[in-house]
Amino acid sequence: MKPIQFLGQFLESKQVGAVWPSSKYLIYQMIKPINFSKAKLIVEYGPGTGNITKALLENMLPDAKLIVFEINNSFINGLNKIPDKRLTIFNCPAEKAAQVLAKHHLGLPDYVVSSLPLAIIPNNTVTRILASSFAMLKTGSAMIQFQYSPSSLGRFKRVFDRVEVKFAPINVPPALVYVCWKK
Ligand SMILES: C[S@@+](CC[C@H](N)C(=O)[O-])C[C@H]1O[C@@H](n2cnc3c(N)ncnc32)[C@H](O)[C@@H]1O
Repeated sequence: MKPIQFLGQFLESKQVGAVWPSSKYLIYQMIKPINFSKAKLIVEYGPGTGNITKALLENMLPDAKLIVFEINNSFINGLNKIPDKRLTIFNCPAEKAAQVLAKHHLGLPDYVVSSLPLAIIPNNTVTRILASSFAMLKTGSAMIQFQYSPSSLGRFKRVFDRVEVKFAPINVPPALVYVCWKK
């Protein structure tokens, strides 16, 4: 999907929450904390055009799995064209991820990588997403989430054991990356 089509999805759907796809600099900050030599299961929330998805697949082990949760049908159509057997796509909201993993006996994720627009998701849903992500992560693992403002920092700190903040200035708009660890 071209960036201009992404802009079209932003104008059409209130749940996209970004005007432009993530830049390669933001993608780099999102995947940098991941220890790909050990990760066997990665979960992605809100993959959109799939540019973070593709970067994850490029770095993942041949026997690792990537499970993505997306609710926008146009983005799902694009994601379905990624030819990689390690990728499973659920047309389902991120807040149901823990239930879906349990139902399909997929195990516990090593990382949760999220582009969800938390600022426009209802507060109680964000609370559930953060709590269930923390609960399902293996110890020593992280949820990696980007946002455009520092306002979510307190929320992450209340749920996770340690939170690092990185800056990705070359992105539209510039973004903060929260790396939220479970000890
Ligand atoms: C900021 S955009 C993703 C940008 C993506 N990194 C890219 O560059 O294409 C946020 C994505 O989250 C999805 N989304 C919003 N709410 C969601 C939810 N509750 N569960 C899963 N996906 C959701 C939107 O449809 C959109 O694709």
